[in-house]
Amino acid sequence: MDGDRQSRLLIGKRVALGVTGSIAAYKAVSLLRALTKAGASVSVVMTKAATKFVTPMTFEVLSGQAVTTDLFEAHHEMKHLSIPEQADAIVVAPATASFLAKAAVGLADDVLSTMLLTTRCPLIIAPAMDGDMWTHPTVQEHVGTLRSRGAIILDPEEGPLASGQIAQGRLAGEFRIREAVEQALLPRLDFKGQRVLISAGPTQEAIDPVRYISNRSSGKMGYALAEAARNRGAEVTLVTGPVSLPVPAGVLVIHVTTAQEMAAAMSAHFEWSTVVVMAAAVADFRPKEVALHKLKKGAQAAPTLELEPAPDILAMLSAKRTSQILVGFAAETQNLLAHAQTKLVAKGLDLIVANDVTQKGAGFGSDRNAAVILSRTGEQQPLSLRLKSEMAHDILSAIVQFPRTIQGTNSPTSVS
Ligand code: PMT
Repeated sequence: MDGDRQSRLLIGKRVALGVTGSIAAYKAVSLLRALTKAGASVSVVMTKAATKFVTPMTFEVLSGQAVTTDLFEAHHEMKHLSIPEQADAIVVAPATASFLAKAAVGLADDVLSTMLLTTRCPLIIAPAMDGDMWTHPTVQEHVGTLRSRGAIILDPEEGPLASGQIAQGRLAGEFRIREAVEQALLPRLDFKGQRVLISAGPTQEAIDPVRYISNRSSGKMGYALAEAARNRGAEVTLVTGPVSLPVPAGVLVIHVTTAQEMAAAMSAHFEWSTVVVMAAAVADFRPKEVALHKLKKGAQAAPTLELEPAPDILAMLSAKRTSQILVGFAAETQNLLAHAQTKLVAKGLDLIVANDVTQKGAGFGSDRNAAVILSRTGEQQPLSLRLKSEMAHDILSAIVQFPRTIQGTNSPTSVS
């Protein structure tokens, strides 16, 4: 990859730059300049110790943004949440041994360490310390832990250190750090070649020409999945109930109203698909008869609504599947895991995303969701409260990792 292409990758990206208390903190100043020159918008977060080496003012002037140093500062917004939520990548350079330890065990006692517990974006860590510290088993154990969780750790370089020692401990070069950020921001195309069929939104079951039975689904979860799958290279078909969301570009969208219509549209595209995700909140029951004319208030008692089961779309698709990966959702208000497990088995699914729709700030209509992904093979992956756009990516990653046992193959699934 040539230098020009790399620099374009950072244009318009938001990078959070964490600076900790190492003598190499001064090098973060020129890293900041390199990142902003490449087009990134950089928010700097400093630990207290870092401010002993370089003043926040230096970073403030060069980044053109306020520098965050204190978890307890009186801010209008909660910086430990808002910075990582908006960031495309977090870079910690230089990272001390103390920072690595805190990050590895999840000790959140300042803004930077707290941010790490709230972020889902790529994390790049460039340690700098004395050579003996770097090779100490405790530090190496923490590095291993962080790597196993997906952090990109740039091993320090060998050379003269502040102690006078010549050893491995120097902060990785600015170019290496910038390149790592660029690599981390490259679009993931792990769904290239996959055909993903997604359902979203509610269904409406008519009672008469003006009334219907429906639910509170906004379609946000399903639409977020469609956009994430498209961004990861998939061809996407989205079957949607009535919602008021903009149609995602580059996605084939089929509008339906009833469970019956959704069943027909999902069936029609099922054979084409390699992955199916039912995020729609489909009616379980519908009026047995739809009145031809508006039901009138009259002298007689209120009418009784007789219901009949609506088609169970997932069960129907599961019965005719060939090699598709089948993913359902479970919207529960109690006994989340037990009910979701029952649905996983009863509907013949590979994965089910169990969401407790009574949780505050999650579920129907919200921009965020919290869930546990259960797999047919017995794994459970809790997903704490996060944006639906982030959860969509987590669900897709779980699909990528799901072991394909369909049609007798036991090798790990790669949908790429
Ligand atoms: O749309 P949002 O406002 O963003 O909210 C998201 C959501 C809460 C709707 C979503 O995350 C969710 O939980 N969707 C599934 C809702 C639901 O119908 O759950 P269920 O437990 O009743 O159904 C279990 C599974 O069977 C679901 O995948 C459902 O799509 C499917 N189903 C249900 C009924 C039916 N007749 N046919 C089906 O295929």
